[in-house]
Amino acid sequence: VKAEADLRAELREIWRREWSQAVVVCDSNTQRLFGGEVEAVLRPLTGEILSLEFPAGERSKTRRTKERLEDEMLGRGADRSACVVAVGGGVVTDLAGYLAATYMRGIPVVNVATTLLAQVDAAIGGKTAVNTAAGKNLIGAFHPPAAVIIHSRALETLPLREMRNGLAEAIKNALVGDRALFEDLEGCGSLPRHIPRELVLRSAAVKEAIVAADLRDHGPRQQLNFGHTAAHAIEHATRYRVPHGRAVAAGMMVEGMIALEASGFPSEDLERLRLLLERVGLPTAPQCGFDDAAAALRYDKKRSGGRIRCSLPVRLGEMDSADGRWLHEISPRLFRSAWNAARRNPG
Ligand SMILES: NC(=O)c1ccc[n+]([C@@H]2O[C@H](COP(=O)([O-])OP(=O)(O)OC[C@H]3O[C@@H](n4cnc5c(N)ncnc54)[C@H](O)[C@@H]3O)[C@@H](O)[C@H]2O)c1
Repeated sequence: VKAEADLRAELREIWRREWSQAVVVCDSNTQRLFGGEVEAVLRPLTGEILSLEFPAGERSKTRRTKERLEDEMLGRGADRSACVVAVGGGVVTDLAGYLAATYMRGIPVVNVATTLLAQVDAAIGGKTAVNTAAGKNLIGAFHPPAAVIIHSRALETLPLREMRNGLAEAIKNALVGDRALFEDLEGCGSLPRHIPRELVLRSAAVKEAIVAADLRDHGPRQQLNFGHTAAHAIEHATRYRVPHGRAVAAGMMVEGMIALEASGFPSEDLERLRLLLERVGLPTAPQCGFDDAAAALRYDKKRSGGRIRCSLPVRLGEMDSADGRWLHEISPRLFRSAWNAARRNPG
């Protein structure tokens, strides 16, 4: 993962001579904002550039869009010497990554991440996928990017709502693996509008290090799930009307409450999490009641063999793996009482 100081220099450094075609994939916003810049930088590096675009938004992250892009690549002669360059947020990196994973049995992908969420989360780690009517991210592949470039300047045009979404995951990474970073986020006066490049890089580094040890999510990578069991239940119960980052923020408070009892997480640390979330304008109380969320939890439970499981912190910057496992079984009773306690949060 590299933070862009000079996009031209970064791309030149990672570009390989054998990539004689660049397939630049953007959504309609990132094409307008960054398409020209990225293509201008690539022009001297590669023989041919194909630009592909699809309408911005989660609704485009489908097999249908992938198929259309594939047909366009086939029609325009993209071959095994091509490298996909995904320019955008998580929707672009997920879709373009999956496209690269299967095109002619797999070609490389470079991610140029333009949302904070992509910079600290989606663009890193090699999970690529599309959504189907049955649910999100159900069809995909593990296909790690050849490089990730954090386009820091891009955040200048990012709407505040999207900054907050990314901040939820940036804070989560700090809580999971870097206490000093958590403290620096607490002390960072420019949030949520501006986040220093250095803090973005350190947050990305937490994910990068954890994923390097466990690409396929059988062990340590599960730490990064903190807050997500409850968040998925909130998203499901509210039919995805609550944006992911806002669900993750509330989910971290619920699972933090569970951790008070189940993994000895200090109440001062939970209070610090609450204050930081509040300060950046993220919610600290779940957006629906436990009974509404329970159906989604039961669904999750079914998928994990009848148990509700979460990863839990022992303190800021450290997750619990007491018996070598990162996921802990939580009784529905404890989940309910933590949920209700978090609902009483002022946020
Ligand atoms: N693969 C993973 O590990 C992983 C992890 C987390 C999330 N995700 C996926 O990421 C997706 C969400 O990503 P996201 O939040 O980046 O959404 P997104 O890609 O839809 O971007 C949000 C919006 O911001 C616009 N945009 C992008 N960059 C911009 C910029 N610099 N300035 C102005 N506007 C800009 C986009 O066009 C879009 O309208 C979801 O599909 C989620 O499933 C994947």
